Amino acid sequence: MSNIVWHPHSIDQKSRAQQKGQNPVLLWFTGLSGSGKSTLAGALEHALFDAGFHTYLLDGDNVRHGLCEDLGFSAVDRDENLRRVGEVAKLMVDAGLVVLSAFISPTKEERDRVRALFEAGQFIEVHLSTQLAVCEARDPKGLYKKARAGEIKDFTGISAPYEVPDAAELTIDTDKGDLATQVTAVLDYLAALQIID
Ligand code: PPS
Repeated sequence: MSNIVWHPHSIDQKSRAQQKGQNPVLLWFTGLSGSGKSTLAGALEHALFDAGFHTYLLDGDNVRHGLCEDLGFSAVDRDENLRRVGEVAKLMVDAGLVVLSAFISPTKEERDRVRALFEAGQFIEVHLSTQLAVCEARDPKGLYKKARAGEIKDFTGISAPYEVPDAAELTIDTDKGDLATQVTAVLDYLAALQIID
């Protein structure tokens, strides 16, 4: 990058976090469409918000209405989608927020590239391991049906790949147990690491 020099600011992440009285972190939910990413991330955000944390939830469907409205689902576009989201999440963590994100993020390389933007311990990968058959049976938006009929191309799990994480901090199958128990599992993990008290 030529002729562009990083400008350090006098108020840093630590000062912002201290003022908010919280540890900034990114909870990165990854999994197939219909695996429960948005539902679990939404319920978790609610629990954290109610407990007084300053949170923000970045969601694939919503981000694709604005910041990433020019992108589709080719491998190249997904890569750019996740690059942008990773950079936005980094700014939000830098601002001192507890950030949650819900993106399929199908490849290890994409997820690890986001992880590399953060300090150790600030990126927590939560794999929604819900089986494809369960996601397809749920089919909340009717997209699997369309994908099977060939009406949607490059559909994750059907005609585009999903690489299962091999080192996620947490793995949750939303087909097992209820939502409240799954929220508690994540909260317990954060408390054990003293990210929340
Ligand atoms: S990615 O792969 O991380 O860039 O995808 P993401 O930004 O999370 O967007 C996933 C949502 O877009 C809808 N959708 C598709 N998903 C997968 N493949 C194809 N081809 C596709 N077309 C549209 C779908 O509703 C996803 O939402 P979720 O919440 O995951 O079901």
